[in-house]
Amino acid sequence: MDFQLKPLTIAQAAAEKSDVLIVLVGSAPIASKDSLSVLAASARKAGDLPDKAGKLLSLYRPDDVVASRVVLAAIGDGKPASVRSGVIAAVNAAKAHRPKRAVVVFAQPADGAAVASAVTAAADASYVYTTTKPKAEARSIRHLTVGVADAAGASKAFDEARATVLGIELAKEWGNRPANHATPTLLAEAAKELGRLSNIKCEVLGPKEVEKLGMGSFAAVAQGSSEPLRFIVLRYQGAPKDQAPVVLVGKGITFDTGGVSLKPAAEMDEMKFDMCGAASVLGTFRALGEIQPAINVVGLIPSCENMNDGKAVKPGDVVTSMSGQTIEVLNTDAEGRLILCDALTYAKRFEPAAVIDIATLTGACVIALGGVRSGLFASDETLAGALQAAGEQSQDRCWRLPLDDDYAEGLKSNFADVANIGGRAGGAVVAAKFLQRFVGDFPWAHLDIAGTAWKSGAAKGSTGRPVGLLVSYLTTRAADKAATAPPKAKTKAEPKAPARKAKSPK
Ligand code: BES
Ligand code: MN
Ligand code: ZN
Repeated sequence: MDFQLKPLTIAQAAAEKSDVLIVLVGSAPIASKDSLSVLAASARKAGDLPDKAGKLLSLYRPDDVVASRVVLAAIGDGKPASVRSGVIAAVNAAKAHRPKRAVVVFAQPADGAAVASAVTAAADASYVYTTTKPKAEARSIRHLTVGVADAAGASKAFDEARATVLGIELAKEWGNRPANHATPTLLAEAAKELGRLSNIKCEVLGPKEVEKLGMGSFAAVAQGSSEPLRFIVLRYQGAPKDQAPVVLVGKGITFDTGGVSLKPAAEMDEMKFDMCGAASVLGTFRALGEIQPAINVVGLIPSCENMNDGKAVKPGDVVTSMSGQTIEVLNTDAEGRLILCDALTYAKRFEPAAVIDIATLTGACVIALGGVRSGLFASDETLAGALQAAGEQSQDRCWRLPLDDDYAEGLKSNFADVANIGGRAGGAVVAAKFLQRFVGDFPWAHLDIAGTAWKSGAAKGSTGRPVGLLVSYLTTRAADKAATAPPKAKTKAEPKAPARKAKSPK
């Protein structure tokens, strides 16, 4: 989908060549006197377009409009969340007519955040999965023009939103791929493709290197599968080398059968989504490659299958993690924490400014927060606040859960330094407490995305979350750093973002 931002009044938008014109109507009175504005104002007055975000009124060939279809969509207070509801409803309504070109115009002045929200919402509502369903009806809206009075004022937010969409769609596509089309090896190939973008490098480790590093916990999860594990290391360098990076760690279980502690058959297919944390790291790097913010970021992805065969790790087995701590594997289905703990230990070598892990970690988090907010755990108040704010800003929300030491009681083991499960109660917190034992002396946060990374049922599919949250966090952090940095000696001009190395990956 390609996006364009233009300074447009409603009258100008009506003159644009397109298949559908979506007019976003907020609560403020509509002052313009062109025929479409007059129509919208009278519909509002008559109560045919209630002032509630997401309410629609569809028109066919109204006067003075080039597009044959027009959808008036209410966006209430015009805040990003309301814009999102309006745009999603309108795009869903318009989709039936398979428009190729769409114009979305704001009837009232709108800021960058509102424009960004329109872009991500339109992309979300029109995304179509293709990898293993290539003959699926192709995405209907191919070209989207966003019209707003102050296009210049919204252009930075618009560009970032467009980049974020590329990241979200990459994460969706990899999340949606069935496990036989998204093996650890294929995931690593996708990461290598990202290494072609400016300022991104990718390195992939295999079983031998992982064993050499002493990642006995990660290796134990992988040993029941004939697919070889991969440990992916991505680096984005947008700031001077000596600036401490933010490290993102994504759980990359490409299929989770539960192992010997086998999961029930119902809905087990959804465990192909158990690499959505990894996909969100890939998606975030895709966006970084476009936006080129002044920040350093490392992405770590431990990736393997959790399978069940003659070599598989068994309940009661004790493994030695890279940190040296021994772990009693009481339940082979609590495998996410077993691969993440070694990646967290590996993260120390980057002397990170912050480490954020992202994982479809616990069913308990789905029970706690459902599909609305991701679970957030943090050892550091500033990091917690920044991630919460980024979630609100990107409408990819999270909610903080506690980390009291009492929750770790159940992790005691008679046979190892720690067990990989505690009781069922507070399971999302217990899992976070397990991870915390492997965190070094740096601010750390853990996002449990088990409830938010994909949808079940008729709309089954990956959401691309929390790419929006992560990109927002990283770009805000880069901007804050730039604002507080000591002024540089005025010798040479600021270097421009270097040109792309090669063709950008899809
Ligand atoms: N990948 C699952 C978590 C999960 C389950 C995510 C359902 C989304 C929906 C994870 O590896 C897992 O199996 N966790 C167990 C932990 C338990 C054995 C302590 C769980 O949540 O049941
Ligand atoms: Mn599991
Ligand atoms: Zn899992």
